[in-house]
Amino acid sequence: MNNLLAVDAEGVTKTFGSVLAVDDITVRVAAGEVYGVLGPNGAGKTTFLRMLFGLIRPDSGTVRIFGRTWDEVGVGVLDGVAGFIESPKFYPDRTGRQNLAGLALLDGGTRPGLLEEVLEIVDLTDRADRKVGGYSYGMRQRLGVAASLLREPRLLVLDEPANGLDPAGIRDMRALVKRLAGSGLTVLLSSHHMEEVEEICDNVTIMSRGAVAFHGTIAELRRMAPDPGHVLATTDDARALAVAADHPEVTVAPDADGALVVTGPRPAVSAYVAGLVRADVELLGFTLTQTPLEALFFMLTDDFDHQTLVRPVREVALR
Ligand SMILES: Nc1ncnc2c1ncn2[C@@H]1O[C@H](COP(=O)(O)OP(=O)(O)OP(=O)(O)O)[C@@H](O)[C@H]1O
Ligand SMILES: [Mg+2]
Repeated sequence: MNNLLAVDAEGVTKTFGSVLAVDDITVRVAAGEVYGVLGPNGAGKTTFLRMLFGLIRPDSGTVRIFGRTWDEVGVGVLDGVAGFIESPKFYPDRTGRQNLAGLALLDGGTRPGLLEEVLEIVDLTDRADRKVGGYSYGMRQRLGVAASLLREPRLLVLDEPANGLDPAGIRDMRALVKRLAGSGLTVLLSSHHMEEVEEICDNVTIMSRGAVAFHGTIAELRRMAPDPGHVLATTDDARALAVAADHPEVTVAPDADGALVVTGPRPAVSAYVAGLVRADVELLGFTLTQTPLEALFFMLTDDFDHQTLVRPVREVALR
């Protein structure tokens, strides 16, 4: 046991009937870090987070929050913990401020000025007196974060906080989480976007079908990432294929749409592109099929829903 850990989940398993939702996973979140639980739909992220909040009990394994378990201290285990699972719920015919004030009352009140502070942090001060029913989805998510911050938590747990938001909403939510992390708060968030986790988190657990597919730092993840594939558009694809014969380290092959996809170690790909220029093949486009970390995510999670989005870069071996 380590009391310094905000979350110490050891060998946690949960089944629903015949569905093994969470399969013997161990996740340790140090105080002060931003930790990502990443995985495709159905990977078990929400189930894991619900067990942290005590909304469901694990079949086996132990969940410690700041060193304490539900069995030892009951609901007191959630002292210093706030957040939301899936989407926060509010009274639509009440304003944002009224909703927060109501929640504060339920919690036995908050220190003076805190309500205004949290509205400011989530950038809702200007909209606080409008009814929540008229809020955008992104504003409701941010109000959810505000409601969590009212509890002045040490650990904030957010289940896919940017899910369903438009690009501006995603940007604002990521900026908000980064600001909160910068203030020393421990944040545990789930996501199905590698890019989001890469941008925000220090450490990550990638889940696939309930189990851990990767565990470590973002830096370690980057080192594992395969060489990216590029879609090549030229004035003369036949010649581009012929030039590839002089570059055995790169693979150039048409994808399902007939577009040429170039894969290989970065220096070899650069040499091939230089070769195309020397051979007077005009380059019309050279775009990443996906980022190296996205490619790695699909490899690790083997997510069939996403496979259709993945170009042949899947064949590149992990090095
Ligand atoms: N209450 C439940 N009853 C039965 N099966 C459940 C229940 N909750 C989750 N599951 C199943 O457990 C698995 C994991 O679901 P979970 O919601 O934890 O995944 P997730 O990673 O949060 O997915 P998403 O990205 O879609 O939110 C899925 O197969 C799901 O259908
Ligand atoms: Mg979920």
